[in-house]
Amino acid sequence: MKVRSVKEGDTEVLVPFHEEDAHFAPSAAPVFYNPAMEMNRDISVAATSAFIKRSKPDPEKTVRYVDALSASGIRGLRISNETGIHTTLNDWNEDAYRLIKQNIEKLNIGNRTVASHRNANVLLHEKYFNIVDLDPFGTPAPFLAAAARSVINLLEVTATDTAPLCGAHLNSGIRKYAAVPFNNEYHSEMGVRILLGKIARELSLHDKAMVPLLSHATRHYVRTYLEIKRGAKQADRMLKKMGFIAHCLSCGHREARYGLTPAIEEKCDLCGEKNIVAGPLWLGKLHNPEFCSETISEIEDRCPGTRELAIRMLEFCRDELDIPMFYDQHLICKKLGVSASTIDKLITALQSNGFRASRTHFTGTSFKTDAKIPDIKKIILNIR
Ligand SMILES: C[S@@+](CC[C@H](N)C(=O)[O-])C[C@H]1O[C@@H](n2cnc3c(N)ncnc32)[C@H](O)[C@@H]1O
Ligand SMILES: [Zn+2]
Repeated sequence: MKVRSVKEGDTEVLVPFHEEDAHFAPSAAPVFYNPAMEMNRDISVAATSAFIKRSKPDPEKTVRYVDALSASGIRGLRISNETGIHTTLNDWNEDAYRLIKQNIEKLNIGNRTVASHRNANVLLHEKYFNIVDLDPFGTPAPFLAAAARSVINLLEVTATDTAPLCGAHLNSGIRKYAAVPFNNEYHSEMGVRILLGKIARELSLHDKAMVPLLSHATRHYVRTYLEIKRGAKQADRMLKKMGFIAHCLSCGHREARYGLTPAIEEKCDLCGEKNIVAGPLWLGKLHNPEFCSETISEIEDRCPGTRELAIRMLEFCRDELDIPMFYDQHLICKKLGVSASTIDKLITALQSNGFRASRTHFTGTSFKTDAKIPDIKKIILNIR
């Protein structure tokens, strides 16, 4: 296999070489490397380092991280090289395994970095790791049971199957996540909450609970960082944050219903039209604002390639209200037949009417608020 060298963060890594071709899909290479995921990896290094600092591990004990689906190893190699923790890089593909070994040697990090050539599920069922990172092709669903068993302190998960998660491929989403999403204006947040709901249910099998520290979504992926707590009581408390969303297609009103067997009205509380229902999904917090700030500080100190974009996105995550689900200003304005103001103007107007309101990291036209749709509409109409 021909290779070339790329530098991300402070780490130079060998990845498969292919001729410059805008149409070349990373998945067509003998070993996968996707440069478009650099920001995802920059944030991974920063968030993992922030987590290690805040959890103050006993210096006598080794913190063990596994990149269970490594490909070239770039994610785990960066963790090892840039944070110094013990790292296992696993891939069942022979070419990937060879490349990982070559990269470990080249970076001279063999004292704390192990190459592994196994089925990720077997590895995760056999060994416990403090930090488990799942970064698969598409859905992480086939690996969640093993990861939930293995993980001790921090679970990091990427999902690139945004169409099933967001309801665009409905049946596939139902099969993978045992939940029903819907594909409307807040489908990106729907995807994050469907994924987190599935992970919560996998963790609860092992009397473990998750506390989301940071979760972010783009059009192409969802990524989440979940602190793990042990104990049946913690798991019971976590499951209370599961539930359903009832959404009125006519007026846009939505209600969160907590629990796995809540009573859900068939008709909208506000206008009496039909509700659609999504779930079970995670209705708890998506972020811990202090953790977001700590991750931002790590990015500032480390100055990786995508720092500006990453900081901007993390600031939105830190500052967004933790209320499910966001509203889209353009959609509401279209229904009202008026043009949209700037999103900041709308947020200020909501706040000066006594409501909580914030922008979101999901899209530039979205906002979160505790105002209900009739008040939002009134305020939008009064802005002009
Ligand atoms: C999307 S790539 C990983 C990308 C990598 N984490 C990065 O940041 O560049 C997924 C990798 O998982 C590997 N893989 C898929 N199923 C696996 C399994 N059951 N056990 C081990 N490796 C697996 C594939 O060979 C592939 O290299
Ligand atoms: Zn309604």
